[in-house]
Amino acid sequence: MSSSASPLGNWLTVKQAQDPAHIGREIEIRGWVRTRRDSKGGFSFIEVNDGSCLSNLQVVADSALPNYASEITSLPVGSSMIALGVLKKSEGQGQATELAATSVRVIGLADPNDYPLQKKRHTFEKLREWAHLRARTNSFGAVARVRNRLATSVHEFFQSEGFYYLNTPIITASDCEGAGQMFRVTSLPLDKLPMKDGKIDYSRDFFGKSTFLTVSGQLEAETYATALGRVYTFGPTFRAENSNTSRHLAEFWMIEPEAAFFELPDNMALAERFIKRLLGDVLSHCSEDMAFFEERVQPGTIAALQHVLEKPFQHMTYTEAVEILTKSGQKFDYAVQWGCDLQAEHERFLTEKHVGGPLILYNYPKTIKPFYMKCNDDDKTVAAMDVLVPQVGEIIGGSQREDRLDVLLSRMREMKLSEEEYWWYIDLRKFGSVPHSGFGLGFERVVQWVTGMGNIRDCIPFPRTPGSAEF
Ligand code: 4AD
Ligand code: MG
Repeated sequence: MSSSASPLGNWLTVKQAQDPAHIGREIEIRGWVRTRRDSKGGFSFIEVNDGSCLSNLQVVADSALPNYASEITSLPVGSSMIALGVLKKSEGQGQATELAATSVRVIGLADPNDYPLQKKRHTFEKLREWAHLRARTNSFGAVARVRNRLATSVHEFFQSEGFYYLNTPIITASDCEGAGQMFRVTSLPLDKLPMKDGKIDYSRDFFGKSTFLTVSGQLEAETYATALGRVYTFGPTFRAENSNTSRHLAEFWMIEPEAAFFELPDNMALAERFIKRLLGDVLSHCSEDMAFFEERVQPGTIAALQHVLEKPFQHMTYTEAVEILTKSGQKFDYAVQWGCDLQAEHERFLTEKHVGGPLILYNYPKTIKPFYMKCNDDDKTVAAMDVLVPQVGEIIGGSQREDRLDVLLSRMREMKLSEEEYWWYIDLRKFGSVPHSGFGLGFERVVQWVTGMGNIRDCIPFPRTPGSAEF
């Protein structure tokens, strides 16, 4: 090896080896067999995938290789191998290069009688049962790469906008959304709970009080926003809602920016820039994977995303939305009237049929929104904003926050929340209070939207849903 060689020697990823610039070089490829075809002319064609991209590299193995008859012609799909050889211009269609192997070393066999991912296509439902292997399929490899690109873009976007990345706690005592859909965290013995006055005595629990897995890092993010100005979280979030839908997970990832001196219009504009940045990056960095989704999963996806990039998001108040829905003549399962929470069917009608693109709904009735949202002067609505997109519905929920101490306290009283428990949150309104705003973007819902995957369970490596926590 020459002194200028890379620490990995001649090992190239499949993605690198597709670059004709490397033609003529002696290289090494390490990956898993996707298919193998043996020709009568004394060659085997092995399609190798290593996850670096959707496509495979064709390795051409000559019958002159010493292990040709003993190993190569029976090399099963799913096996791992290392091939050495010279990279050549491919004569075949659909690939620029191929490897003329001088050695094919079998590393780990995959028993063809047991390995479930044979050539036959499996449904996404079936593949969920093999979540430990499904990343080896084209679809799940592509989802994983797009998800990785989105995560990178989340950080790049907020860093470029002057936001600091903040880690908020996963174990918490407060219910941010006030919906009571929290998973309890306890170290008490479940078969011998300590009791006091007929109730479980949580003062004897690990933290000396009741604790849960967080439903949102927002309240803690607000404390840092009122010091660092702009912060964002990107972490796991847990909801014990018994929703068996294609858009709900019990464990999902959420990105929550929070910015001091931002009012609702600033918050909306931030959300729009953010989403456009995510879509633009995926379209420009993941073109091979996106072409796959377009062809195999959801035709029209790429054009729809491009369309989103070109047009400003539409804005509409909740009140206007209710009017449109009631006058639409559309039959809904749930009737609409002012004050009701909008259902997925209503949201999808608005974004898909009425607008045909992303829609920001704002100024919701205060009775259906959490305590922390800023009350509007009408005393009926709060400065909430939801971003709705076709196919998925709500991907962002956010608001301007109530920064007036007296109004916050009276809202908390109305909603029967304990001032004692939220003392530190209330303090922010006592010491240098400022208008501030933020939102939460559901990460898997974005993955679902950009890939066109029908079910959110296929947009996270190991989905947690009611009745299911395998792997
Ligand atoms: O609208 P949500 O409940 O808002 C909040 O939690 C605020 N505290 C955010 C903030 O202002 N900082 O949730 C935000 C987003 C939703 O729009 C949705 O995209 C996603 O989180 N989400 C879920 N995604 C998957 N599965 C679930 N069960 C989800 N619940 C919410
Ligand atoms: Mg919401």
